[in-house]
Amino acid sequence: MAISKTFLSIFSILSLILFSIFSSLTLATEDSHFFHKTISPTQLGLQEEKLSHLHFYFHDIVSGPKPTAVSVAQAQMTNNSTTRFGMVTMTDDPLTSGPELESKLVGKAQGIYASAAQDEVGLLMVMNFAFTEGQFNGSTLSVLGRNTVFSAVREISIVGGSGLFRFARGYALAKTHTFDQKTGDAVVEYDVYVFHY
Ligand SMILES: *[C@@H]1O[C@H](CO)[C@@H](O)[C@H](O)[C@H]1NC(C)=O
Ligand SMILES: *[C@@H]1O[C@H](CO)[C@@H](O)[C@H](O)[C@H]1NC(C)=O
Ligand SMILES: *[C@@H]1O[C@H](CO)[C@@H](O)[C@H](O)[C@H]1NC(C)=O
Repeated sequence: MAISKTFLSIFSILSLILFSIFSSLTLATEDSHFFHKTISPTQLGLQEEKLSHLHFYFHDIVSGPKPTAVSVAQAQMTNNSTTRFGMVTMTDDPLTSGPELESKLVGKAQGIYASAAQDEVGLLMVMNFAFTEGQFNGSTLSVLGRNTVFSAVREISIVGGSGLFRFARGYALAKTHTFDQKTGDAVVEYDVYVFHY
């Protein structure tokens, strides 16, 4: 009697386990086949949207033995253009907390700037600010904007982000801190304002 009761309860537990495995499998299959559904922000753990202000310095080092910005392509006529129209430069530029390169590294500006204007020096910036410091370590901001480098203040769009910057949108204000006419190296101060969760 006792044995058959134990057997029965083991049997019912087993069937329960099997049933839940089976139903979760069916659910998983159904889930992986959906194309669209509306969800609520809380399902992604999103709470209040907040506004952040980031401040750092961007080091564009084009000279010396270890440049962080290298020209990767240009057109036949780029050398003839006073604005270097057609030049494409790939960057892995350090972002630091202070204007000195030796100050704390907070990230890198990884991407491309390209000379996209013929009548003035105007860059198309397509890059990610990949942060490595503090709570933002591993998070990125995506930049897609226009940078007329000889203007006192340039406004560049922030179009997205990852990690803590998911759903980011905002703008950056860029001001040249120093520009070495001989080497072409530049330090640019950035103030970034972004909404994110
Ligand atoms: C442009 O000028 C650079 C430096 O003077 C030279 O190395 C390069 O070959 C030139 N490119 C073209 C397409 O003329
Ligand atoms: C660049 O300028 C030189 C000198 O003026 C000229 O000979 C050459 O044809 C120009 N090249 C292009 C691609 O416009
Ligand atoms: C940033 O994250 C990476 C990978 O998790 C880790 O190796 C690194 O030490 C972190 N850096 C800082 C400054 O916390």
